[in-house]
Amino acid sequence: MTYAPQILDTLRGEAAEVIARYPSPRSALLPLLHLCQSVDGYVSPDAIAFCAETLGLTGAEVSAVATFYTQFKRQPNGRYTLGVCVTSLCAIMGGDSIFDRLSEYLAVGHDQTTADGLFTLERIECNAACDYAPVMMVNWEFFDNQSPASAVRLVDDLRAGRPVRPTRGPDTLATFQDVARVLAGFEDGRAGEGPAAGAPSRAGLELAAANGWSAPPIRVGQAATPDAVASSPAPPSAPAPSAKAPPAELGGAAAAEAGRTGSDTGQQEGKVAK
Ligand code: FES
Repeated sequence: MTYAPQILDTLRGEAAEVIARYPSPRSALLPLLHLCQSVDGYVSPDAIAFCAETLGLTGAEVSAVATFYTQFKRQPNGRYTLGVCVTSLCAIMGGDSIFDRLSEYLAVGHDQTTADGLFTLERIECNAACDYAPVMMVNWEFFDNQSPASAVRLVDDLRAGRPVRPTRGPDTLATFQDVARVLAGFEDGRAGEGPAAGAPSRAGLELAAANGWSAPPIRVGQAATPDAVASSPAPPSAPAPSAKAPPAELGGAAAAEAGRTGSDTGQQEGKVAK
């Protein structure tokens, strides 16, 4: 490893803090990769060696994880990651056009970084903000209802150092490395800033509340045909059956569903099939 002694000391101290939060050291791999990314700006060869040595893993094991998740970068990342959502709804609403415009404007393609080290451009998948499509994320903060022109303005503002405010979340935009540190588990104290879910996200709930609507009860083991839904009685006031003790009158599938526990899921489903 080529970390300077002072950086290595700090890294070791903070890594110990992270590892102490988990029952097993290897469980701390993801936050440690973020922590190294906050130091180097990407998951460097030093980061791989540090995580392997600190957690008692092989370099191959650490690399396998670091190359699986797209949030971990294997080459120096820009100060700002510009993520343009190109999943169906955002794409239909203009996400592809935004990506193409930014790609042309910045002269970089997907997962490439501008020569000045400021921007890394990415196509990203749905961020569960479809009611604000087309959506961009800058360092994983939301910028809703974008257009090719607004995306270029955003880039110009960031390049000029003008203050930029995400649509939701923190009031200011942190750098890629600062966000990596938060993802490692070191809070920056800004989690409570800014607006959370907006009116479009709550519209369905508010409409249902205003009209006294509620979802029909789930009838386990019975197909949810339109007729069955229409004739469903009002939701029971009694609490739902406990997952640990499914009532005998529920079908085998219900009992299996209630009894599912992580690794034995397949076995439970196998029993039902018989
Ligand atoms: S499709 Fe873009 S946020 Fe869901």
